[in-house]
Amino acid sequence: MASLVGVFATSHGPLIARDWQTMPAHRREHFVSRFREMGRRFEACRPDVLIEIAPDHWTNFFLNNLPSVCIGVGEAHDPPAEPFLRDFPHKNLVGHPGLAMHILETALKEDFEPSLSHRLRLDHGFCIPLWRMELPRLPAIIPFIVNDLEPPMPSIRRCLAWGRLIARAVAAYPEPLRVAILATGGLSHSIGEPTMGAIDEAFDHEFLRLLERGTDEQLTDYLEDILPRIGNGAHEVRNWVVAHGAAGSRGFDLIDYEPVPEVYVGCGYAAWNVEGRKAAA
Ligand SMILES: [Fe+2]
Repeated sequence: MASLVGVFATSHGPLIARDWQTMPAHRREHFVSRFREMGRRFEACRPDVLIEIAPDHWTNFFLNNLPSVCIGVGEAHDPPAEPFLRDFPHKNLVGHPGLAMHILETALKEDFEPSLSHRLRLDHGFCIPLWRMELPRLPAIIPFIVNDLEPPMPSIRRCLAWGRLIARAVAAYPEPLRVAILATGGLSHSIGEPTMGAIDEAFDHEFLRLLERGTDEQLTDYLEDILPRIGNGAHEVRNWVVAHGAAGSRGFDLIDYEPVPEVYVGCGYAAWNVEGRKAAA
């Protein structure tokens, strides 16, 4: 049977790539050390497959066709189109149709109704963390896109339920695959609105505290109340909530948090303890 060997989450602000050469050296060093630690823990899990949970930044979808959740079931994915990702080192992005279809079918059997795509382009939300984690080779990737950009969005309760469903589906898959989850996005940021560039550190700290010590109900109540009132980029923490659900809402291990004004994002790095042990900490 397949097993969940690691659950991770991190930020993916596009300026982490676009402004890489021009940001202050101490910021670049911050990103190198934190993402390298993420990569070290990820590699230690030796995953065969990565379920990567990220938004779609108007790359595959737009207002004329905007799924709440889309699972990438293709044999392969297209590389990022953003010019600042032209040096992204992984040119062949392989999928895992078997496990992806299994997750999709499990979801439908349990009355979830995701969209699916046989060919997705992976944008900076998927690729910046993979790049900065300095992974020598990528496992097969199952893209799991959540609409974090345009209201109405999936509820926080539903995001937790999605995480649990993914974990159940992985555990029931008959091949002996090692499966990791990586959620990307958030924490607080504000894009294209009057508060552009603002980082809400109070929100970031409370969100991280609830992942570490809160109940599902506390986490849900807090996010449903506050997300509509703060910077629009914070909606991406839905992806972290999916990962939290997959990890059974326990074992959250914060690697680091730092607000980074140069990239407009409160940057978080986390791993959950899976099956009662630290994720190669
Ligand atoms: Fe984003």
